[in-house]
Order: sequence, then C-alpha cells, then structure tokens
Amino acid sequence: MTVLSEKEFNDLVPREFKNASLAQGGMQKSSYKEILSWLKELEHMLILLGCPGCGKTFTSVACLNWLFSKKQYLDLEFVKARDLFQHLKHLYSSHLSDKDSVDRLKRCHILVLDDLGATKNSEWEGEVILDILDARWGSYAPTIISTNFTIPELGDKLDGRIVSRMLDSRNLKVENWEEDRRSI
Ligand SMILES: Nc1ncnc2c1ncn2[C@@H]1O[C@H](COP(=O)(O)OP(=O)(O)OP(=O)(O)O)[C@@H](O)[C@H]1O
Ligand SMILES: [Mg+2]
Repeated sequence: MTVLSEKEFNDLVPREFKNASLAQGGMQKSSYKEILSWLKELEHMLILLGCPGCGKTFTSVACLNWLFSKKQYLDLEFVKARDLFQHLKHLYSSHLSDKDSVDRLKRCHILVLDDLGATKNSEWEGEVILDILDARWGSYAPTIISTNFTIPELGDKLDGRIVSRMLDSRNLKVENWEEDRRSI
C-alpha cells in the first residue's frame, strides 16, 4: 500500500478544509457516530445531502483527514463534479481519451465526488457519473458523494440508475445538518 506524504495528501484536498475534523460537529450526534462506523467499515457509499453551506464538503474532507490520521487508506481522489466535466471536455477538445481519467476514479480506493447535481445534469454528464458510480457500487468501493438535492429531489434531477445506486440501502445517507455554516 502506498503511503502518501502530508504534502501529497494536502495537494489532493481543498486547502479551505485542511483542518476539518469530524469532532467539530455540523451534523447530528447520531450521524457523527454513523460516519465513524462507515469510516471503520469503509465499504459502499456515504451520501451527504443538504443545502449550500451546511458542511458537506467540510465533512467529506474531515473523513479523509480522519483516514489520513490513521495512515491506513491513502489511495484517494477528491473531485468536484463540475471540475471533472470540464477536465473531460478539455481532453476531448485536445483529441485525447478520457479513459485514464475515468478509470482512475473508478479504481482509486476512496473517491470523494463533491457537488453532484450542481451542473446541467445533461445526458452526457449522467453517463459519465453512472459509469464511475456503477463500477464503484459493484465493487463496494468507498465513495463519498455530496449533493444539494434532497432524497426526493434526486429522483427528479438525476438518472434513475444513478439514484438507485446512491440510495442503495447499504449506503449511509446523512441529511441532518445544523444550519448554513457560511452565515455563522
Ligand atoms: N462542523 C464545522 N465546523 C466549523 N466550520 C464548518 C463546519 N462545517 C462547515 N464549516 C464551514 O462552513 C462553510 C461551509 O461548509 P461547506 O463548504 O462544507 O458547505 P457545503 O455543504 O459543502 O456547501 P455547498 O453545497 O455550497 O458546497 C465552510 O467555510 C466550512 O469551513
Ligand atoms: Mg461543498
């Protein structure tokens, strides 16, 4: 197993959340315990749903920080959906294949997919996300997904096959947050 240096780890996650810690709260106490259990099991998906500013990205990076502090699982990727689509479009416009980039997200040990649904949600975007999530879902690969949608909204906004995998009963869904942290 590859051990990431602190610098490599810091380069992978947003600086804003460098010191994010699960113990800082933001979610209900029961959710905090469930997230810790999820991190210990490290299988299936952790779905963070909530309004802008409630702490989803903070929590996803806090999870990575927790894992990094244990120096266990260090093959990770953190990607915002919008950045992923822009990156793939850039590859296409340069006549390059997206295979390596997409395969990397399918196969890395831990993936954080941030802000799913915050883009156009076009058919093409849906196909990219389904391709990645289906591969990860099928191999129980630990995947943290954040979205501004509520569970009922997911069904309206995203492809049913994506939603079905996100709402798999084995996944942990966290919906209860204290408030918009940006306005504190
Ligand atoms: N538990 C917490 N303790 C302290 N600060 C927090 C906590 N959770 C979030 N924050 C801070 O609140 C702000 C909003 O958090 P964050 O960016 O994670 O929200 P978000 O749910 O991802 O929002 P968006 O949907 O807009 O991406 C950030 O500046 C973050 O550092
Ligand atoms: Mg966010």
